[in-house]
Amino acid sequence: MICKYRFGTPLETGAVVAPRPESPLPMPRFTVTEDPLTLSCPLPEGAAVYGLGENVRGMNKRGWHYESQCTDIPHHSEDKLSLYGAHNFFLVSTEEEVFGLFVDDPGVVHFDIGYTRSDLLSVTVKSGDAWVYLIEGETEADVARQFRGLVGRSYIPPKWAFGYGQSRWGYRSEEDIRAVAEGYRSRRMALDAIYLDIDYMERFKDFTVNRETFPDLKALAADLKRDGIHLVPIIDAGVKIETGYDVYEQGVEQGLFCTDERGENFIAAVWPGQVHFPDVLNPAARRWFGRLYGRLMEQGIEGFWNDMNEPAIFYTQKNLDAAFARVEDFKGRNLNLHRYWELKALFNYLGDGPNSYHQFFHQMEQDGKLLRVRHDRVHNLYGMNMTRAASEAFDELAPGKRVLMFSRASYIGAHRYGGIWQGDNKSWWSHLQMNLQMMASLNLVGFLYTGADLGGFGCDTTEDLLLRWIAFGIFTPLMRNHCALGTREQELYRYPRWETFRDLLSLRYMLLPYLYSEYMKAALTDGLMFRPLAFDYRGDARAREVEDQILLGESAMLAPVCQQNATGRHVYLPEEMKLIRLRRAGEWTEEILPAGDHYIPVALDEVPLFLRPDRLVPIAAGDADCVMREDFDHLSLLSFVRTEAEYLLYDDDGESRDYNQQSHYTAIRLNAGGALTVAGSQTVTLPER
Ligand code: GLC
Repeated sequence: MICKYRFGTPLETGAVVAPRPESPLPMPRFTVTEDPLTLSCPLPEGAAVYGLGENVRGMNKRGWHYESQCTDIPHHSEDKLSLYGAHNFFLVSTEEEVFGLFVDDPGVVHFDIGYTRSDLLSVTVKSGDAWVYLIEGETEADVARQFRGLVGRSYIPPKWAFGYGQSRWGYRSEEDIRAVAEGYRSRRMALDAIYLDIDYMERFKDFTVNRETFPDLKALAADLKRDGIHLVPIIDAGVKIETGYDVYEQGVEQGLFCTDERGENFIAAVWPGQVHFPDVLNPAARRWFGRLYGRLMEQGIEGFWNDMNEPAIFYTQKNLDAAFARVEDFKGRNLNLHRYWELKALFNYLGDGPNSYHQFFHQMEQDGKLLRVRHDRVHNLYGMNMTRAASEAFDELAPGKRVLMFSRASYIGAHRYGGIWQGDNKSWWSHLQMNLQMMASLNLVGFLYTGADLGGFGCDTTEDLLLRWIAFGIFTPLMRNHCALGTREQELYRYPRWETFRDLLSLRYMLLPYLYSEYMKAALTDGLMFRPLAFDYRGDARAREVEDQILLGESAMLAPVCQQNATGRHVYLPEEMKLIRLRRAGEWTEEILPAGDHYIPVALDEVPLFLRPDRLVPIAAGDADCVMREDFDHLSLLSFVRTEAEYLLYDDDGESRDYNQQSHYTAIRLNAGGALTVAGSQTVTLPER
């Protein structure tokens, strides 16, 4: 049951798609106080709190405080309150009950989850205006499903986007890109995408291509595509201010940029230096900006990643001018501690943050009219609307087709338009575990198409970290290796153990029938592909505490090794499971383990996969080097059958949007005696062993 409450004068954010009647206040469960608007409820001992999407710390959010304030933040350490997304939904789960709360407001919302007082949860809405949805249900999955029904179906990417992708900030030319393709293909290593970071553009201008370094993007895209590799360019939020650059000139002429307090186009700076921000909260600007993606689509591009759309601001012109005006005061002086700090602060807060967000304005659509709104009031909607601009344009530019789209910044609702990646993590072991934890939190708020920069974005990776991270990444829908300019090279073929990487990649393609099927079923039924153990093993107190294992789909559990030099790890099994040690496509060993605690040796070239009793995992041969060459019609099974297991497999052409066909499903049934029945279009046989 969902009840909707009004506080103050809420804005329509576009998060909710299923209208609800308003319920009268007071709302149950929560005590409400004003100035600032705060909703509080007791947190009983043992209660866990899940959700809040993209953020630091565990799947159970209890014990810390968080803030919804989309931020370009490359240091994902435990002291942070926000990352790039604003996902104001959480659920409180005790052994007796589960309820969820969604606070729909695009300004700063603060969540104190047992931080100030361990027995109290409170949510503070800075603006005082919000739609608040209280969702009661039987289980975590039930509450989550109701929430997702409210906010709409999750984005579905093309099937090739479930293949492996290689990225790096620093690929500068066609030669660089061809060398990466060759690096993988010459070693028969799978690859479905190469990402273009900002250097493909001409002076960081959106929708341009540097003709000196990429003389014929269309030919390059076509060549690579013939070999099963898609090129995926980045698009940044800021549009470079440059006379003669048509995108800039169109935006100015048509009045489609954000403005400052005087009504002039607002000047900030990002990669290209000075930019204007397209006012994507205004439908006209959204339409204009979205259609620009067509320029690259005409050159054969079928996927994009949207970046710097919190929006990230290096400096605003106003802040920079003010800092330079004051810096003279410090010249030639003997600076004591306080004066030194003042000097440092002068240049430290020129961009991202409240110092800039009150300097610009949007024409936001509200009730069919345009309303001038200051940015800080609606900050968290910017990234979502940039992605929406692209997604709405794709509907026209490529009708009936799926286009890959994922973004850095997001708000709830953005999950309908694209996926997100987990931002600028680091090559740290702790960030491998955070990748796992965020999968669960993001699924809960609707972002199914997600993954982290495998191997880590910032800092130098190590071969063993990359091996362990790829061993986890083969399960995440977005499987992309990406790293920052100046860091150690991270392409898998460059490492001494490249053959092990090749084998790990083959496992991804082997598992794709299951991964794709679980993804699609989660998207089509508002389900959760990744879940904390506690969701399926309610009442198991130990399961509640597990933060480094995760359930994947209906059949499997993952327990990756997240520690350097470890040759194995402890695993908690809430019930008897079959441990499958995967080595490469078609090669694995099996062992049945009783419920309880185990120490599992895991070599660097192995991937442990735990199968639940009476469950199946359909698999392909895994011998292809890209999704389009994998045979999804002749499948086999990983299985753990005590009595009888059934699996409903989803598959489709991976390109069109025609999801609701009965013919997409194949029912597979296997009993303990080995009798297999298959009803549907695919052929499934038992592996020869
Ligand atoms: C941002 C993105 C990162 C990208 C870089 C350069 O930091 O998060 O993925 O490589 O910008 O475009």
